[in-house]
Amino acid sequence: MALITFSNPEYKDRTLYAVAGSHTQTLLKLAQENKVPIPFSCQDGECGTCLVRVSSVDRKNQRMGAHLTAKEITVLGELGKLTQKEIDEIAVTDLPSRWRLACQMIVRDEDILVEY
Ligand code: FES
Repeated sequence: MALITFSNPEYKDRTLYAVAGSHTQTLLKLAQENKVPIPFSCQDGECGTCLVRVSSVDRKNQRMGAHLTAKEITVLGELGKLTQKEIDEIAVTDLPSRWRLACQMIVRDEDILVEY
């Protein structure tokens, strides 16, 4: 189980339990199921509407791998949220980017703060 805290200045913070490692539950799906109003459009990693900033708040203080999808890397690059240097580093280290697309990010066994 992971604790996911959604934060937006216009809404009260919401912290949810998420089943980690299902390989199917995206951050956006979790938000939708719990009526967290993250903006979205295509739900397919192409428009960038669901851009979120993610940081680890895990007590174990372990950052997990990124596993950014190819679409996510392309869109985050186009939005100026990933530099080519960061894209190259992610390919080698698999360390997470603080910017993600909620419709592409799979929830993992890590407590995180999601700002939208
Ligand atoms: S909703 Fe379009 S990229 Fe996520």
